[in-house]
Amino acid sequence: MKFDKPATTNPIDQLKVVGKPLSRVEGLLKVTGTATYAYEQHAAAPNAAYGYVLGAAIPKGRIDSIDIARARAAPGVLAVVTADNAGKLDKGEFYAARALAGPDVDHYHQAVALVVAETFEQARSAAQLIAVRYTRSAGAFDLAAAKDTAPPPKAAKFTPPAETGIGDFASAYAGAAVKLDQYYTTPDQAHAMMEPHASIASWNGDQLTLWTAIQQINWGGRDLAKTLGIAPTKVRLVSPYIGGGFGGKGTILCDAVLAALGARAAKRPVKVALQRPLMFNNVTHRPATIQRLRIGATSTGEIVAIGHESWSGNIAGGRPEAATAPTRLLYAGANRMTRLRLAHLDLAEGSAMRAPGEAPGMMALEIAMDELAEQLKLDPVELRIRNDIQVDPENPGRPYSQRQLVQCLRTGAERFGWQKRPQRPASRRDGRWLVGYGVAAAIRGAPITTSAARVRLDQRGVITVETDMTDIGTGSYTIIAQTAAEMMGVTVEQVVVKLGDSRFPESSGSGGQWGAASSTAGVYAACVKLREAVAKQLGFQADDATFADGQVRWGGRSVPLAYAARTRELVGEDKMEYGELSKQYAQQTFGAHFVEVAVDAATGEVRIRRMLAVCAAGRILNPKTARSQIIGGMTMGAGAALMEHMVVDHKLGFFVNHDLAGYEVPVHADIPHLDAIFLDEVDPTMSPLKAKGVGELGISGAAAAIANAIYNATGVRVRDYPVTLDKLI
Ligand code: MOS
Repeated sequence: MKFDKPATTNPIDQLKVVGKPLSRVEGLLKVTGTATYAYEQHAAAPNAAYGYVLGAAIPKGRIDSIDIARARAAPGVLAVVTADNAGKLDKGEFYAARALAGPDVDHYHQAVALVVAETFEQARSAAQLIAVRYTRSAGAFDLAAAKDTAPPPKAAKFTPPAETGIGDFASAYAGAAVKLDQYYTTPDQAHAMMEPHASIASWNGDQLTLWTAIQQINWGGRDLAKTLGIAPTKVRLVSPYIGGGFGGKGTILCDAVLAALGARAAKRPVKVALQRPLMFNNVTHRPATIQRLRIGATSTGEIVAIGHESWSGNIAGGRPEAATAPTRLLYAGANRMTRLRLAHLDLAEGSAMRAPGEAPGMMALEIAMDELAEQLKLDPVELRIRNDIQVDPENPGRPYSQRQLVQCLRTGAERFGWQKRPQRPASRRDGRWLVGYGVAAAIRGAPITTSAARVRLDQRGVITVETDMTDIGTGSYTIIAQTAAEMMGVTVEQVVVKLGDSRFPESSGSGGQWGAASSTAGVYAACVKLREAVAKQLGFQADDATFADGQVRWGGRSVPLAYAARTRELVGEDKMEYGELSKQYAQQTFGAHFVEVAVDAATGEVRIRRMLAVCAAGRILNPKTARSQIIGGMTMGAGAALMEHMVVDHKLGFFVNHDLAGYEVPVHADIPHLDAIFLDEVDPTMSPLKAKGVGELGISGAAAAIANAIYNATGVRVRDYPVTLDKLI
């Protein structure tokens, strides 16, 4: 099915099931520990041996030799995989990093060997007996030092343009009545999801099955086949439950590749989970940025020039962090300039982490707006409202499909009690605490992409949906069940959703907050096909038949849905594809964050007191799962504002704090009270469901709202994240 003009009224608009705050359909399995994650597929892959990954001990250089003799002879050891015996390996398309070092080492803790043994302990113990000789070479690890010579990123898939602009930024900025010119920095951050990267590989002849934790089954299957040099049809990926991803499980990593190689060598299924202290330097992360914002405005606060430059680093073939993305879209201003620069750094690969681009970009832009408001003596909510724009500012012929940023700001200000904000910084005390309020806007793209599904109706009236979509803890199972139930006129209890298997039709996968809108549209398309099959079976006209309450009605007749399948199962399969609407309309999600913090006047300790996000993001398919996404994003925003920071050792060339003791993320005590509100919105330019995604909107802007609240509380402006207490006193 092709979606190429705005949606009209359709069966989803009944909203009998879609739009309801249903609890997660797989929730019971999750909370009772009976959902099988990748490492727990004991029944599917009995007799699996254990693999243990040894990481490189140098950040850059060559492996001169690897002596595996002692490890190979250790108790229980079945195989040792290294570059010497792995055969020729290619790499996938999405990540630049190689799964296995040798002879070159590209970054610290890149895998150099996999030991396979009968038990995990035997594999771990034998890994310590591997003797690796390295020749270390000089590497680059310091973004600030590499910044001034960093070139523009090369044009490539998933890489935004290095430079964009309209008008004449330089002269408009030079002539502006009020000017802001500041640098901001954001650190390297880790996804730090609960479930580590983990895979079980099993070969049956030349056919590989991999149970793994992955967001994109489609990318992963193709990347694994390409890496191993086998046909994609020889690879099956299975990933029914995933314990978080945040972009870190976009496609396959070394656990998957090495499990496959280990299983081939040991002639047995092999399971590999990356140990947490290896993950931080082995897998991908959100790269650090240095950003410069220049904004010129009239004395009444109309932006006349806005310029945003961002520097980040990566290994060869890696992409830049697109921190300028939000500035290209968020505010008015006739003269604009954005610029990305990409330094070569020999750290682990930087890649997508929740709201890549927007999350770090808004950390800078939204402090800059706060600073500009202060210079103008204007309320920061008012400054943002004054610079609202209803067309894409870089492409003035292109309107927003929906843009309720002003409504988000106004609603939030009212609900939060923004008028009680301390007018001067550092002016409100509550005992030993300094109290402040902060605001920031939120913007995040609403991409949508081809997604397919198959839907079956059996003689009991049960609807079974099959698609290789994943549920990374987001609620995919539930919103897909709601979509199929609405389309077929049944309750969610009558829908069985099967996800995460490459044998099912290819979905969008989970990423870029496109999963919810894309995967449900694919299910819609398949259900249209199934409705046609049902109508044909009953001798009805599909176009004006109605499906509701378990009945199909047409021409004055009404029969139970199950009756249509009484002699044989009926099947509908299709994919939703997209025309030009996303070129004709700027499709984005919007929000506004409001935060109250308290800062200890003596120690600088920051406590968040409350946070509110008001969001406008198309039709909300399930307010409960959507709220969880938003408050989860806000929690990650709190981490980004206050604690998350992988510290680079510029001499030794790695992230020093590489475990969950040293890499701090928020715990319950850090997050007191979060509220998320959704404005009414449907966006007919997106899909027949008129929905967008919300998985990445909640983090966008959240950290800056906290930083702005800290400034309001203390009068100390910190432009270097995270805002730790040492920077406040
Ligand atoms: Mo995402 S960070 O595109 O899963």
